[in-house]
Amino acid sequence: MAETIGSFYQTLLMPTPMPHNLNVVLVEPRIPHNTGSVGRICLATGTALHLVEPLGFEINDYHLRRAGLDYWEHVTVFRHKDLRAFLESVPAHAPKFFFSTKGTRSLFDCRFEKGSYLFFGNEVKGFPDGLLEENAGRVFRVPQYDARVRSLNLANVASVVVYEAIRQLGP
Ligand SMILES: C[S@@+](CC[C@H](N)C(=O)[O-])C[C@H]1O[C@@H](n2cnc3c(N)ncnc32)[C@H](O)[C@@H]1O
Repeated sequence: MAETIGSFYQTLLMPTPMPHNLNVVLVEPRIPHNTGSVGRICLATGTALHLVEPLGFEINDYHLRRAGLDYWEHVTVFRHKDLRAFLESVPAHAPKFFFSTKGTRSLFDCRFEKGSYLFFGNEVKGFPDGLLEENAGRVFRVPQYDARVRSLNLANVASVVVYEAIRQLGP
């Protein structure tokens, strides 16, 4: 009996294969606990996390690991030295979505597909110059309903976006 219960809990702890094949891309993130929180969301949803350098912290930062708890070591993380090289490595047909307060379209207009790449800017200046202009038409805004709020927290936005994508693609 004890063995049966043990294997039951073991099964619960096993990663569940996720068919969405989503990718979260953090471009030059600055704040370690935001990246730790995003890593936790990624692990929970079977999403790959791409970190485009330069980062504002060391990858073994205390705050990053604290926010990611003991999950961080299980997150599928890819580090990229350079944004341009990373963009060239993304399959040409892969759907790309950029999230910014400057977006002219709403998150609720996104039609996510399996294998989508979801891009987020950094906590200080958003995206590097030119990137949003080059991707005009693929820049989306998470609606904010009070003008006093300049932007949402990076990890909160990533969470909302990933779960909206999963809602559309099916659990
Ligand atoms: C704290 S915000 C950066 C604010 C920065 N001053 C700017 O102009 O983008 C960090 C990132 O979170 C995302 N973000 C924050 N609020 C958002 C919103 N309402 N809609 C879409 N993305 C948002 C964007 O990717 C942004 O680059």
